[in-house]
Amino acid sequence: MAEPVDGIRVIHNAFRNDLSQIDSAALDAARGTAGRDHTIGRYKFLNEVLDWHAKGEELAVFPAVEKVAPLVAESYLKDHHGLDAAYAGLDRAYSARDSLETARATAAFRFHLFMHLGKEDSHLYRIFRERIPLPEQVQAMNVMAGQVPKERFADLTAWLYPLVSATDRETMTRIWQVALPPPLFISMKEVIHTAIGNDDWAELTRRIPGL
Ligand SMILES: [Fe+2]
Repeated sequence: MAEPVDGIRVIHNAFRNDLSQIDSAALDAARGTAGRDHTIGRYKFLNEVLDWHAKGEELAVFPAVEKVAPLVAESYLKDHHGLDAAYAGLDRAYSARDSLETARATAAFRFHLFMHLGKEDSHLYRIFRERIPLPEQVQAMNVMAGQVPKERFADLTAWLYPLVSATDRETMTRIWQVALPPPLFISMKEVIHTAIGNDDWAELTRRIPGL
């Protein structure tokens, strides 16, 4: 049974996969083995999602953790500021069309993001899962989901699903099936189907009969 907080891991996996692809495209461009392709430019949307995610954590997850494990969340907030700086450096390099600096910046961004997400998965969210009552966890996850502007939910879905495994897709879909208002869930099913194609959609419906 998927718990709401399992959705965090799915989003984290999408961040990791997206930034890894962006970083290797940036390296290829810096080496001259590929052009400056559109994969690198995806860092802008990645950062938009990262902003919604971080804002939700700062509003709901960190204060909840603070109550059961004082002084822990502070270091994660510092990480978020580091991620902002990493993004700003990448944006400067990309805007200047400096492929070497862009590749250095994607590598730095990736290294910091992986460290941060790894700590969150094994430490921060472990505290959250083990010490916070389930109803409060659900409340915090709702605040997080509320940071995504309604008109951008389809963009988020179309970004997320192709980046994650079949198991992660199943987890997220089961969470949304319960958490989203039914009309929104119905329209997201179409977005998911289009984003992952017929074969992967068939796999998802095999895992979630009646979808
Ligand atoms: Fe975070």
